[in-house]
Amino acid sequence: EGKFFISRVPEGFLALWQRCPHLGCSVPWDANGPSLDSIKPQGRFNCPCHGSQYDRYGQIIAGPAPRPMDLFPISIENGRIYVQTGPQVAKQRAVADHQKDPTPA
Ligand code: FES
Repeated sequence: EGKFFISRVPEGFLALWQRCPHLGCSVPWDANGPSLDSIKPQGRFNCPCHGSQYDRYGQIIAGPAPRPMDLFPISIENGRIYVQTGPQVAKQRAVADHQKDPTPA
């Protein structure tokens, strides 16, 4: 239940819960897929179940998911990244909040 991706974006780091907000499938990273953001030319999250697509922020770009990928709380202490995991601490975001809450690098 606690699997996540650390996503590095210009604003910092995001811990994106791997669980698709649509119906809960695991969302894999597609390193070779065309990017859905302007950060790099390749890389996106593609849900294999119903086709939701997410950018590096976990923002929903296409498909049936109702919101961006959920976030786990993240902190950086002494050069280490700590992530709290589990459904109880996952934070849901509105569609427009895709760049909200990155932890500064
Ligand atoms: Fe991911 Fe449906 S569970 S798109």
